[in-house]
Amino acid sequence: MGKINLGQFILAPMAGITGFPFRKTALKYGADFSFTEMVSAAGFLHNDRGTLELLETGKDIDKTGIQLFGSDPGMLALAAKKAEDKGFKVIDVNMGCPVKKVVKTGAGSAILKDARGFSLIAESVRNALKNSMFTIKIRSGYDENSVNFLEIGKIAELNGVDAVFFHPRTRSLMFGGAADHSLTKKLKKEIAIPVYASGDIFTVDDAADIKNYTGADGIMFARGAIGKPWVFAEGKNNNTHTDINLKIDIIIELMEEISLFYGRERGHNLIRPHLYSFLKGFKGSKGLRCMVNNAKTEKEILEILNILKTAGDEYTRLD
Ligand SMILES: Cc1cc2nc3c(=O)[nH]c(=O)nc-3n(C[C@H](O)[C@H](O)[C@H](O)COP(=O)(O)O)c2cc1C
Repeated sequence: MGKINLGQFILAPMAGITGFPFRKTALKYGADFSFTEMVSAAGFLHNDRGTLELLETGKDIDKTGIQLFGSDPGMLALAAKKAEDKGFKVIDVNMGCPVKKVVKTGAGSAILKDARGFSLIAESVRNALKNSMFTIKIRSGYDENSVNFLEIGKIAELNGVDAVFFHPRTRSLMFGGAADHSLTKKLKKEIAIPVYASGDIFTVDDAADIKNYTGADGIMFARGAIGKPWVFAEGKNNNTHTDINLKIDIIIELMEEISLFYGRERGHNLIRPHLYSFLKGFKGSKGLRCMVNNAKTEKEILEILNILKTAGDEYTRLD
């Protein structure tokens, strides 16, 4: 099997967000490829129930990468092999998660602290896979005193990693400051394997600017896709004018997918980040978000969205 072309516009892994319903919607509206949220290698090997839910792909298995997290090279390799056996064609290892609970176990961005440990993981996972692509998602380093993305990128290349997803912030920055895409440009120059840019890419213009500036092979939308799954199609068509009624219809479709998959009660909470993000750009968005907050049922949320459809100028979009 040859390598998959991941395309230009990829839905980034996001815990709590990129479950099956959102991936399905993003892929339908233009994403070339998508990732599950990070999944514990150990949990996956133990067939934890929650893990299986995170890995649902429906018919989209060829456009869905699994993202694993863990710190033990042997366990990551076994999990990668199991993922390949289940049909995943792209297996990513998380090396960017800044959350204490994860870092404390030596996983996520803690892997960047130890280049030798990193190379053991890279080698083990690569050797465990027959045909699937092996990718990594990294930050620029653990903290400002250990910015080592170039070293990590070079070791990755030597060990047969197929692509790097790069979020140019250190772990200590968490989400603070701005993503420094001059580093993405450097990484792209220094290694021959594909580099995908992640970080502060919120709009179609950001995507085009960062792609041109860095020479990256593609971009990942993360926060910029929450509540805006049409951003992928806009990116492809270089057009930012998706009709507002179509946007509302897509949000309603997403809400239905979420309810169908998780059930109404869980779905009611899981749609919220999408609604908050979607409503942010509206005049009177505070009031709208408040209404969504107070809504107790999906029906009430639908009523709010329908008000938007018929309200005309009162709720004109700001962006
Ligand atoms: C809610 C949320 C959950 C995230 N979960 C993951 C994750 O599971 N795995 C991962 O590699 N990155 C995760 N990220 C990081 C994103 O994939 C992305 O690299 C980061 O948000 C920077 O991109 P942005 O500025 O466009 O949002 C998460 C980000 C957010 C906002």
